[in-house]
Amino acid sequence: MRVLLTGGAGYIGSHTALVLLERGHEVVVLDDFSNSSREAARRVAELSGREVPVIEADLADRAAATAALDGVDFDAVIHFAGLKSVGESVAEPTRYYRVNIDSTLTLLDLMRERGVTNLVFSSSATVYGDPQYVPQDEAHRTGVGLTNPYGWSKFMIEQIIRDTFTSWPELGAVVLRYFNPVGAHPSGRIGEDPTGIPNNLMPFIAQVAVGKRERLSVFGDAYPTVDGTGVRDYIHVMDLAEGHVAALERIAPGVKTYNLGSGTGSSVLEVVRAFEEASGCPVPYTVVPPRPGDVAEVVANPSKANAELDWSTTRSLAESCRDSWAWQSANPDGYRA
Ligand code: NAD
Ligand code: WQD
Repeated sequence: MRVLLTGGAGYIGSHTALVLLERGHEVVVLDDFSNSSREAARRVAELSGREVPVIEADLADRAAATAALDGVDFDAVIHFAGLKSVGESVAEPTRYYRVNIDSTLTLLDLMRERGVTNLVFSSSATVYGDPQYVPQDEAHRTGVGLTNPYGWSKFMIEQIIRDTFTSWPELGAVVLRYFNPVGAHPSGRIGEDPTGIPNNLMPFIAQVAVGKRERLSVFGDAYPTVDGTGVRDYIHVMDLAEGHVAALERIAPGVKTYNLGSGTGSSVLEVVRAFEEASGCPVPYTVVPPRPGDVAEVVANPSKANAELDWSTTRSLAESCRDSWAWQSANPDGYRA
């Protein structure tokens, strides 16, 4: 297939592009580089030995995106493009809704106009809100107790995709709910490159280990978990990328929803220890009060994806830490170096 990757220069998009190319597919990246760099696409081309055409356009700008994609052929779209910082979304709700929702509306109209029927969408376990039970399967309720516009935008986009299918039954869409993506390609050539202070745990730990930041703040140690710190389902980004390819290769008319997670939870302190072991560097930390909106435990039940996509994670937390460290230590300033 020839696959358009919106947001394909970003963290998950760049790894997915590489896996698609290695599987013999072709890719076209559309990105506005608001949270990424052209260098990521260049390195994907270098690692794969294949061409990675890049189109610079803002997908939320309908006229600009339509013009930029004029004459560009593709059979399927993986829609990664969007803004993803939870805290920023609380401070700038209209920007988050505009970018995330308008981008998707433009994309769906464009696909329909051109008769491109295959879509994979980046959703998030955040749509489950405050977990009613763990591990969470796809039948877990969604859209209750969401605490930020980012999460609501994912919930709304899932509904927009289902409504679009109702009016356009040829559409084949797969909604992938990611748990916590971490790690990097084992080469250390591509990885997660957050701008400013990282919001997420593993990139923060990596910057402490490499000496860019002094210590980690652990957000709370009195949760009802194994050691009192928050538990999450960390999934290696290469496993996640393979999940996209599995979904794409099985796409059929309809809307399917899958959790992409490992099924195993790890606490903040377990991640700290695993990273110290992988890097050989100390990760000093201080326990601070819980972060507003955080929950004790989020873990995937990935059985549906295991069975229907013939996909499961194969990489451990230790490998995630090793690969994250390979990326961080070789690229302490990310792609800017
Ligand atoms: P990322 O920021 O690295 O990638 C998103 C890409 O989209 C970036 O390259 C950015 O420049 C681009 N982009 C943003 N707005 C755009 C626009 N208007 N037009 C064109 N391009 C635009 O983030 P990521 O971690 O790779 O996430 C990819 C997708 O997965 C996002 O939709 C995100 O919400 C979702 N997701 C991420 C996580 C996570 O923890 N990383 C978890 C669940 C879901
Ligand atoms: C993980 C654990 C924190 C940072 C977020 C989004 C979610 C999804 C993935 C997009 C928690 C603790 C963190 C730190 C800490 N993204 N922590 N100190 O919050 O599970 O999920 O990213 O869809 O929607 O909400 O991920 O990496 O921020 O936190 O103690 O400096 O690490 O409290 O227990 P989270 P995270």
